[in-house]
Formats: sequence, C-alpha cells, structure tokens
Amino acid sequence: MASPSPCTILFFLFPFFLIIFVASARPPFACAPGGPATGLPFCSVGHPIKSRVKDLLGRLTRAEKVRLLVNNAAGVPRLGINGYEWWSEALHGVSNTGPGVRFGGKFPGATSFPQVITSAASFNASLWELTGQVVSDETRAMYNGGQAGLTVWSPNVNVFRDPRWGRGQETPGEDPKMAARYAAAYVRGLQQPYDGKHGRTKLKLAACCKHYTAYDLDNWNGIDRFHFNALVSKQDLEDTFNVPFKACVTEGNAASVMCSYNQVNGVPMCADPNLLKGTIRGQWHLDGYIVSDCDSVDVFYNTQHYTSTPEDAVAATLKAGLDLDCGPFLAQYTESAVTKGKVTDNNIDAALTNTLTVQMRLGMYDGDPSTQPFGNLGPRDVCSPAHQNLALEAARQGIVILKNARKALPLSTSHHRTVAVIGPHSDATVAMIGNYAGVPCRYTSPLQGIGSYATAVQQKGCMDVACQGDQPIGPAVDAARTADAVIVVVGLDQSFEAEQKDRDSLLLPGRQQELVSKVAMASKGPVVLVVMSGGPVDISFAENDPRVSAIIWAGYPGQAGGAAVADAIFGAYNPGGKLPMTWYPQDYVKKVPMTDMNMRANPSKGYPGRTYRFYTGPVIYPFGHGLSYTKFSHSLIRAPTQLSVPLDGQKLMSVNSTNPAQRKVRAVRVTHARCDALHIPIHVDVRNEGDRDGTHTVMIYSNPPAGHSAPAKQLVGFEKVHVTAGGQVRVAMAVDVCNDLSFADANGVRRIPIGEHSLHIGELSHSVSVSLRL
Ligand SMILES: *[C@@H]1O[C@H](CO)[C@@H](O)[C@H](O)[C@H]1NC(C)=O
Ligand SMILES: *[C@@H]1O[C@H](CO)[C@@H](O)[C@H](O)[C@H]1NC(C)=O
Repeated sequence: MASPSPCTILFFLFPFFLIIFVASARPPFACAPGGPATGLPFCSVGHPIKSRVKDLLGRLTRAEKVRLLVNNAAGVPRLGINGYEWWSEALHGVSNTGPGVRFGGKFPGATSFPQVITSAASFNASLWELTGQVVSDETRAMYNGGQAGLTVWSPNVNVFRDPRWGRGQETPGEDPKMAARYAAAYVRGLQQPYDGKHGRTKLKLAACCKHYTAYDLDNWNGIDRFHFNALVSKQDLEDTFNVPFKACVTEGNAASVMCSYNQVNGVPMCADPNLLKGTIRGQWHLDGYIVSDCDSVDVFYNTQHYTSTPEDAVAATLKAGLDLDCGPFLAQYTESAVTKGKVTDNNIDAALTNTLTVQMRLGMYDGDPSTQPFGNLGPRDVCSPAHQNLALEAARQGIVILKNARKALPLSTSHHRTVAVIGPHSDATVAMIGNYAGVPCRYTSPLQGIGSYATAVQQKGCMDVACQGDQPIGPAVDAARTADAVIVVVGLDQSFEAEQKDRDSLLLPGRQQELVSKVAMASKGPVVLVVMSGGPVDISFAENDPRVSAIIWAGYPGQAGGAAVADAIFGAYNPGGKLPMTWYPQDYVKKVPMTDMNMRANPSKGYPGRTYRFYTGPVIYPFGHGLSYTKFSHSLIRAPTQLSVPLDGQKLMSVNSTNPAQRKVRAVRVTHARCDALHIPIHVDVRNEGDRDGTHTVMIYSNPPAGHSAPAKQLVGFEKVHVTAGGQVRVAMAVDVCNDLSFADANGVRRIPIGEHSLHIGELSHSVSVSLRL
C-alpha cells in the first residue's frame, strides 16, 4: 500500500489540531454551532427567554433535573450543555473563596479592592458602583478565559449589629439605610443590565445579596451559626435586618438572594416560606433565584434536626422557595422525595425555571461567548493600571482620621525625614485584603508606602498580631527614640475576626497596647497610630494618651493599602472617610450577649441597645466620626418647615372610613399615604474654611417626634463632595418621607410619625412639621 500523501495527513490532523486549539483558547459552551442542540428553541437567541427556558426544561429527564439543583450543576452532554459551577465570589475583587474562580495561567491575580467596611467608610455611592463595574469587568474577563463563573455570591449586606462579629468586615456597616444604598450601588455595578428586548434584561454578572436574614453571628460563647436561633421582633426585621435586602432586590435588581444558616424565630431561613416566598418573591418581586448558604439544607436537617427525613428537608426547602442548593443535598434526595410523594416535578421545575432564566439572561445559551457583549474582555482587562489606580483611590477614600491632636498630621517630608515604622502590621500584605479576597495583582505595604516619603526604619515590636510572650518591644522603643516621627501600625487580622470566628474582646490583642504606649513614651517626634481592623477596637488608651498625636483607622485597605496610608499621613491626600460603625468600649461586650438580637434598648433589663440608632451608652468614637486636614461648615439654603402627607382616600375609606379617632392619628401607615414624589428638598452650602482642598460627606440625620419606638436618630441622606480651599459647593438632597421618616411599629407596620421631625446636618438643625392631608 502506498504511503498516504502529505495532503491526506494534513486532512486527518487538521480537525484534531483545531479542536485542541479551540479548547485551550476558550472553554466549551452550550448551543455551539454544529453541536447537538443546534436549531433547538432553547438555543434560539431571538426567542423570549421564558419560552427558551420552558423548551429546555421540557427536554430534561427528572434525573437530569435534580443534578441541576446544586451549585456544581452536572452537564447534559446529549444536549451539549456543560457542567456549571454556580459558586463564584466577588466581594471586593474577584475572589477564589468559592470553587468557581481559579487563579493561574493567564489570570494570576485580580485587583483587590479594600474590604467592604473600608469602602463603606468613603460614604461615596459612586465609588461603590464604579468598583462593582471594575470587578464585573475582571470577572467577565476571567469567565471568558474559563477561570470564573458569572454568578457571584456577593455582596454581604447583613447589618453589622455587634462589634464582635467576625464577618462585620465584609459588610457596609451598621446603618441599614447606608447598607441599602451600598447594596443597590454595588449590585448595579456588578450586574450592569442591558438589552431588555426579549422580555428580560440581560446581565453582565448575576449578583447575590447574602445572608438573608438576621444572621450576623458566627461563633460566640459556644453558639455557632449552624445552631443559632435568632429571636427577632417584627419591628427589628422590618426597620433593620431586612432593609438592605429589600433595597438589594427592589433597587439593585439583584438576580439572587442567599438564605442563611441560622433560624429566625425557630424556623431555618432556608425553610421559611413566609420569609422566602412571601417576602422575597411576594413583596419584593425578586427576578432571579434563591440559593442556600453552603450546606444550609444539610445543616437544618442534620444539625438542627428540623425535619425527620432528608426527603422532608427537600420538601421544606423547595416549598419555601429555594431554587438552588449550595451543597449536594438536593441532588442526593430530590428524586426519592418525588417517589415518596413529598414534592412534585412541578416543585423542581419551578426552581429550575428561576435558575435557568438567570443563566439565559447571562447569555449562557447564546453560543460562542467571544461573539457576545463583553466577549472581548480578557487578561489585559484584569489588573490594568486603571483598575489598580481605583483600588488605591478606594483605599484613600476609606481612610478615617480618628484623632489629630495639635494638627500633628500631616507629617512633613522636610521635617520628618527619618520615620520609625513599628508594629505587627508595619509590613502588612495579606492582612490588608481581609477575607473573601483573591490573589491581588501586587501589594504595597505600609513600610513601602512610607518609604516613598521618608527614610523608613522598621522595627516590628510585635512579630504578629497575637503579640504574646517574648516580643522585640525594646528595639522598637529604641528606634522611636531616634526617629523624627513614629508610625505604629497595629490591629487585627483573620486569626482574630473571620468567618466562624467572632471576638470576645474589643481590645488590641496581646501586648500591642503595651507596645504603643512604650513607643509613644520614648518618641521624640509625633506618634501616629494606624489601626488595621474590620471591626472596631477599644483604643481609648491611645485616644487619651497625649503622646499619641494622631490615630488613623485604615480598615483592611486592600492591595494598595500601604500607599494610601502613607499618602494620607504625608498629606498628599486629604482623607475624608467616616466610621460606618460605632466604636464601643470594652465594657459593652461584657454587658451585651451577642445572641440578643434586639436593636432597641431595654432600660429595665440594663440592655443598652445596638448601633447609633438605638444605643444609649458611652462610645469611643461615634458612627460617622472622621476628621479632615481642613474644616467645613454648612449653611442651609433651602428646607421647608411644613410638610403635609397626602392620604390615599380610597384605602382609608375601605379600612376606617368613619373612625373619629382618625383625626388624632399619631403615626400614619405608609400604605395609607400617597408616597409618589413625597420628598423634603434640602439644599446645603458646604464651605471649606481651611487652606487645603478636601472632601466632605454631608450627612442628614432625622430625629422623630417623641413618644414613638422609632430610632432615636436615623441617617436619611448623605452625599460626598469635593471642595477646594476657601471654596463652596451647593448640595441638593431630598429626604424621602415614606422611606426615610417612617419606622416600623411593634407589628412591623411602617408608619410616619405626625408632628415635629428635626433634621441635623453637622452643626445645623432644622425642624419640619409633618401633618396629614386628606
Ligand atoms: C380602624 O379603627 C379601629 C378602631 O376605631 C382600630 O382598632 C383599627 O386598628 C383601625 N384600623 C386601621 C387599619 O388603622
Ligand atoms: C467618589 O468616587 C469617585 C470614584 O473614585 C470619584 O471620582 C469621586 O471624585 C468621589 N467623590 C468625591 C466627592 O470624592
């Protein structure tokens, strides 16, 4: 036989090479041209998503369907559908905390933004949205390269209710309205919805608001999140715990909500039909899927023993409204649950309709990703100079000056040429990115940042954050004695506050406090204390020590944290960050059990209440505290003194048409008011009285009329502005009467108190008389 001609060899090898090339260039995708699903309606981009989902569901067997109810959804090869890992994370940068993201190869790292509590301190909603957009670009780029999913289980919008909570760092802080605004802004940035042509807007990414609801305890005093039954009043649920989740769904249009491990009032969150189906779908109209926290279904069956059989657990969760199980439980037990008559195929189809719809909105059945919108994003869009600059900018905006005695800050490069850089975080890298992080593009440590302004001499003093036993405090004291200035970088890290780890003390760990005091005693120049932490730390010793000239809270400032801290200390940047949570004294944790979910104070029980909205005790620093290198003043330009709330006559008629008590109503139901465009316009001039440009956040707080169980104080608006030295900027804001001036009564019914509301803006206060108009 003649040997094959070169041409024949080429013929045989060519398709083979082509396949290898394609496979290494991009991952396989559903509805590929020439694939097994070519021409099937579910692959047809021009059809409404609703009918495509229906078509696909109609082709699947029950066995195939149940394997789609879990995070690592199986492929359906006969239809050309690949397996999909639903669990990706993008809390403050693309994160490999979930199995959906893999770093390496063309994507060795991604931009690591400050931890959320730090970004929150910027009080800058446009920064939050922009950060979301950048994270979205990087995630989508990694998806195109086969190293990330499109469903990210971020953000965490639980209210940071207790200073000990290990996951407080992941949240935008303790104020529910601020968390609501963060949630909506970050989710908009991540999802960037587009093209509503076929009945549903499409999504760049699908975000997820977690962990619904009243979670905020990980492991305290022998009680962990898997066993915690949060006892929550209807009132606190409505005007605290659910506020960010509602906004995340109704304003951010998040494509997903995650139910948490804990129980609320005796019912596991992932098995509560009232709070899942009733609230999330019924009231908030989620267009998306509800997912369990990882192994939540297993946890309420095996740990909480909520149902007697696994099949009953399947029924409880599917009927409550769960659509996707993070964990294998539903894949294991759903078929037998059908056989035993606990659930029906309709229950399964209802769940899959929600998850498949989100996948369709993400374009996952639209064929070749590289020809779709965002298909051009690739390695050069990850860790780009612009993205890394934004990480630096975000870190700067999150820096909070807590103390600046005798204007010790900023330091001067001409007077402070030699700086002793001391403390366990003096060369921090990994600690700066907090948890739910990825692999950063690079780090700039505090030592490196400071080194670009002065000759930096490092002496750690404490070798690690724990700072136990024998520690090189002596050499640190010596370094302080000779330097022109001292910067001590202390704080916490993930070994003290993390997922599954709450603190039991608010003090600096180990000998850190001793280090700071001894160094301050010896120093000849100014001493700047920099605290890196997610939660608040009781540093009253330093606040009260005249030798500690200045204190900065940097949170967990992300990959560029050290540069941002140095820019602030040397005045290249004038910080304007404010605390997104109250800093309590150590005493607080002795008095208040972490398990007590009540927001409101109860004086008869010696319970001081929680967060600036309700807490009645002493603080180290209040919510909203933060200094600047310049001074701002406000003047009120426009603010009405009267407001009448128009009532919805028809609704009132049907409830209480001839009730004479109506005239004496003290707080009107929000549902009885005509809320459309019911705003109080507030215009404020902000003047920069100093000699440096700076940014300032205008915050409006309201106090309700006396005699209601409303928060004593509520942030009802904030806006960040940049004002040049000696300059003035006018800020126009609006207080939304129905949302912002209402509170929940004991039954969880929202009401607007009638009478004098006072509004506070910095040093100003202003009274608005709210009345009713029929
Ligand atoms: C209607 O009036 C009655 C008493 O006059 C009162 O008990 C009831 O709560 C009122 N209903 C509403 C919805 O305000
Ligand atoms: C808010 O953040 C954005 C994005 O970094 C920035 O452009 C803007 O200047 C910030 N606003 C203020 C007042 O600093």
